[in-house]
Amino acid sequence: MGNCMDSSSRVDSALNSQIGASQSKTSKTSLSSMPSSLGSASTFTQPSYKEKSDTLPTPRTEGEILSSPNLKAFAFSDLRTATKNFRPDSLIGEGGFGHVYKGWLDEQTLTPSKPGSGMVVAVKRLKPEGFQGHKEWLTEVDYLGQLQHPNLVKLIGYCSEGDNRLLVYEFMPKGSLENHLFRRGAQPLSWQIRLKVAIGAAKGLSFLHDAESQVIYRDFKASNILLDSDYNAKLSDFGLAKAGPTGDKTHVSTQVMGTHGYAAPEYIATGRLSAKADVYSFGVVLLELLTGRRALDRSKVGIEQNLVDWTKPCLGDKRKLYRIMDSRLEGQYPKKGAQAVSNLALICISGEAKSRPKMSDVLEKLEQLYDSKYNVLNQEISNRKVPNLVAKSPLRAHASPRRHSTANASPLPTYRPAAKVH
Ligand SMILES: Nc1ncnc2c1ncn2[C@@H]1O[C@H](COP(=O)(O)OP(=O)(O)O)[C@@H](O)[C@H]1O
Ligand SMILES: [Mg+2]
Repeated sequence: MGNCMDSSSRVDSALNSQIGASQSKTSKTSLSSMPSSLGSASTFTQPSYKEKSDTLPTPRTEGEILSSPNLKAFAFSDLRTATKNFRPDSLIGEGGFGHVYKGWLDEQTLTPSKPGSGMVVAVKRLKPEGFQGHKEWLTEVDYLGQLQHPNLVKLIGYCSEGDNRLLVYEFMPKGSLENHLFRRGAQPLSWQIRLKVAIGAAKGLSFLHDAESQVIYRDFKASNILLDSDYNAKLSDFGLAKAGPTGDKTHVSTQVMGTHGYAAPEYIATGRLSAKADVYSFGVVLLELLTGRRALDRSKVGIEQNLVDWTKPCLGDKRKLYRIMDSRLEGQYPKKGAQAVSNLALICISGEAKSRPKMSDVLEKLEQLYDSKYNVLNQEISNRKVPNLVAKSPLRAHASPRRHSTANASPLPTYRPAAKVH
């Protein structure tokens, strides 16, 4: 069975559909040092405050973080009102650490407004998980309170009252990339939009890596890439962000945290974290965009469970690439452009961190591709012959909504956090 040599994207099985019915809840996890390709997509723990203080060039106290002039401190009662008492019909997402609700605030005063009027916001309410949840929450307030960029989600404020920890973000109308790629019944994303999303996310990561005080994002994955109404991508969920190495250091040593399937092998094995670990995760997301499959999919068998292992033999090989391409694209992608993206993914997922490109180089390459002749759908688009190809309108050429065949098999529900490595 399957590697990409002998099986192209498998479609709907009863099992897949069944598993796909439950939305996966990726969560932050302590990754064990065992390099299991079949490990669960999941979790990690928060770096200790001491660790963070040691590595951040300008460590800040909790009081300093919370007094950021960019952020509003909300009363819990206001956020309860804004979300209609956290009613289930306001729920828009769920991650490892919390539920996310849609809410409404008055644009000027940031006080609760009538549902449907004023400004729409997303309110993340952390599950009451004690200290660790609090540390992640604080890390997110710390970074997003300081960093502003068109490709990072905007944090409007927070709430810390008793045991309640909440975050208030700008609302991203098109939700997460994960939902678009893997949710059953979702309209398939066109090739152009996939490229646009990759470029937006690459801009966000490049910004973090090239900042004066480098930031390593550490949890780059489809569920943390949010989309605005025009498919501009923004990174959210900064709970695991970490200050990069300073001086002539090549890495920071830290407890291994992240998500199986996305985390770089050297980081899992050694706890040595560098920006190149984010580049690896970016490569995995490129593979998800190419194939429409999850980084880890336990509904599949053998090598097909792990996207990197399954796709690797086909990446960089133009005769084999079509075997792993997302069938939901229905062949509507420029062949050369897809080859170029697969080559790029291949170097991003290189086993050797130093062989991976910098994010700024990845971004440059993607932008070239977006603008170049390689991004034009022309007569010969894919290896497969596609009838009725509408060359002029690549974005509309495959409008028929289809049931997504890729199972939504997050291993998280059965995941048990591993022992800390460091
Ligand atoms: N600002 C937002 N706008 C719209 N949807 C959001 C927003 N923030 C989060 N979500 C949805 O909630 C999910 C979980 O959010 P996330 O911040 O990643 O939580 P966690 O820290 O628990 O992983 C996202 O994958 C997305 O679907
Ligand atoms: Mg998340």
